[in-house]
Amino acid sequence: MARPDPSIVILTGAGISAESGIATFRESGGLWESHSLEEVATPQGFARDPDLVHAFYNARRAAVRGVSPNPAHRALARLEQALPGQVLIVTQNVDDLHERAGSKRVIHMHGELSRALCHACQARWAAPDLMHAGDPCPRCGKPATRPDIVWFGEFPYYMDEIETALSACTTFAAIGTSGQVWPAAGFVQRARATGARCIEINLDQSEVSGDFHEHLIGRAGEAVPAWAERVLAG
Ligand code: OAD
Repeated sequence: MARPDPSIVILTGAGISAESGIATFRESGGLWESHSLEEVATPQGFARDPDLVHAFYNARRAAVRGVSPNPAHRALARLEQALPGQVLIVTQNVDDLHERAGSKRVIHMHGELSRALCHACQARWAAPDLMHAGDPCPRCGKPATRPDIVWFGEFPYYMDEIETALSACTTFAAIGTSGQVWPAAGFVQRARATGARCIEINLDQSEVSGDFHEHLIGRAGEAVPAWAERVLAG
């Protein structure tokens, strides 16, 4: 029988999708170098210029459609399959590469490119490939549709479920995230406080590296499969 609480909680960030060809945010060449975060990732930016914001997310949706999961996504899916009920992925990523690799238990704390949201009535539905300012909501009809993405200044999704999982896990792994965005950056402290062993997998040091017990420095596509094998070997 599946355990009610996962014993392994895995936080993923943009770095896990980098080798699939999806740009990260803060590295050289990252998305926040070529786009203003305030313009495309805040409610105020959307109110000012919804066309620009839709164009940004339409382009990102198209970019994700054209790529595939990499060995890191696939290794996490195999881990979940081998340890039923024990693995939970909490991702900051808005792509669907974990699901396409076969992971079932995935929480998208920053929303999903594949979903649309009505900011008038809170209805949610599958986003079309192209969204436009003024598209009517299928439920209330108001021209108030937006990407279902958590922007800066908004609350991440599923925080109660995440908090419960962090307080029950025995292993916490953070993969490919810079530790610069809260509350995700604080998950390691939360897990560590309840006794979990904390492992960071990243190309480099992150802002919160000092909070982890162990660091695996390297590309996710190599380091994650190796770590997953180690977990399965006990
Ligand atoms: P960042 O762009 O801030 O950080 C990416 C991290 O991935 C860095 O620490 C890199 O060292 C690491 N990295 C890059 N390539 C890697 C590879 N091949 N293998 C392993 N690690 C690699 O992305 P996030 O931490 O995910 O939020 O950013 C967090 C949030 O900030 C995002 O969810 C997004 C953004 O603004 C919203 O849009 C709300």
